[in-house]
Amino acid sequence: MSVDSNAQPLVNTMIPTETQEARRQALASKRKVVLDDVAVSDVYQIGIGAFTPLTGFMSEVEYKSVVDTMHLANGAIWSIPVTLPVTEELAKEISIGEEIALVRPDGVICAAMQVEHMYRPDLTYEAKQVYRTTEDAHPGVKRLYERGSVYLGGPVEVFEDERVDEFTDYFFTPEQTRKIFAEKGWKTIVGFQTRNPVHRAHEYIQKIALEGVDGLFLNPLVGPTKSDDVPADVRLRAYQTILQHYYPQDRTFFGVYKAAMRYAGPREAVMHALVRRNFGCTHFIVGRDHAGVGDYYGTYDAQHIFSNFDTRDLGITPLFFDNAFYCKRCQGMATAKTCPHGDDDHVTLSGTKVRAMLREGIAPPPEFSRPEVVEVLMEYYTKS
Ligand code: ADX
Repeated sequence: MSVDSNAQPLVNTMIPTETQEARRQALASKRKVVLDDVAVSDVYQIGIGAFTPLTGFMSEVEYKSVVDTMHLANGAIWSIPVTLPVTEELAKEISIGEEIALVRPDGVICAAMQVEHMYRPDLTYEAKQVYRTTEDAHPGVKRLYERGSVYLGGPVEVFEDERVDEFTDYFFTPEQTRKIFAEKGWKTIVGFQTRNPVHRAHEYIQKIALEGVDGLFLNPLVGPTKSDDVPADVRLRAYQTILQHYYPQDRTFFGVYKAAMRYAGPREAVMHALVRRNFGCTHFIVGRDHAGVGDYYGTYDAQHIFSNFDTRDLGITPLFFDNAFYCKRCQGMATAKTCPHGDDDHVTLSGTKVRAMLREGIAPPPEFSRPEVVEVLMEYYTKS
C-alpha cells in the first residue's frame, strides 16, 4: 500500500519577502534570544514546513504529550520534542505574551517568536523517554542536559536563510521537492536519511528500494552532528561522485536535510520518516540501527517502533532492511535473509573501524566502499 503524502497540507511560517524588511526593523527593538545551532536548524525546518504540523516550539501540553505518547495533543504522530531551551536567568526576564527576536550565533535575526508558554521540563525523564537512557555519555542526552532548563513555547515566523554555502544548490523546501517529484511524474518516492559517508550497504538498500518505486530521494542530514561524524561537506562530495558513476540520473534526486541529528535511534527514525513524508516521499528506508549511537539501541529497535503506528496515520510507508554486507562467496551484497554463508565470508566494517583506517591512510576495500568515495574520504582524512 502506498500513501499519498501530498495529502498532508504543509505548514509555511516563512515571512513573505515583501514584509521582511519591515519585520526586521520592528524586531530590532525587541528582546533578542540567541539560539544554539540546534535551535537555529529547528527554526528553519519549522519555517519551511519540514516539521509539519509544527508551527513553532512546543507548549508544555504538546511537549508532555510527545514525550509520553509520541503523539501531539491533537493525535498526530510526533516522536521527538522540538523545544526552545533558555537559561533560568534569561527566563526571568521574559514574559508570556512577549514577542522576541530569535538570533543566530552570528548575530542575524532568523525569526520572530510569540512567547505563549514557559515551563520547566524534567530533563532526566525526557532523556529516559526519548533517548532510552539518562547517561550523558549519549551525545543527544549530553546536549539535552547542557541546553537551558526552561523551555519557551510559541509560534515562530521565519526569515529566509540568506547564508550561501556548499549546500545551497542542494537545498529544497518540502513545497519544492513535492513539485519536483510531481514534475518528474514520480508517484512513489522512497526517502533515504543518512549522516554517514555513503557505502555499499547504503547503495544496496537504496537500490533495492528503488526497484519497487518510481524515484529515490537521497536526503543526507547536513545540520549539526557530533564532532567525530564525517563533516557534511565531505559527505556531500562523496555523494556527488558516486551519483555520477553509479546512480540513474532520471530516477534519483539529491537534496540536503539541514536539521540537527538527535541520535535518538527509534524515536528519531519515526521523526525522519515524518519529515520525508513532508518532503513528498511515500516510502522511507529504515535499516540497521537507524539514527543510533554506541550500543544504546538494539539493531532493529528503530524498525520495531513503527509497530506502534498505523501507516495511514504516519502518511508514509517504512521499508525495513536487515544488516547488509558484501559476501565473498555470493560475490555481491546481501543480508542474512538472502545469504546462506557465515561471517567469515562477509566483509563488514564498523564506522569507527573505517574512520581509524582512513586516519592511518588505509583504504577500506571496494567491497565496503566505492573507490571514488574512498578517494574523497582519504583526501579529507589525510589533510585534517
Ligand atoms: S543514520 O544515523 O542517519 O541512520 P547512517 O547514515 O549510517 O546513519 O544510515 C543511513 C540509513 O542506512 C539508516 O536507515 C540505516 O539504518 C541504514 N544502514 C546503514 N548501514 C547499514 C547496513 N550495513 N545495513 C543495512 N542498513 C544500513
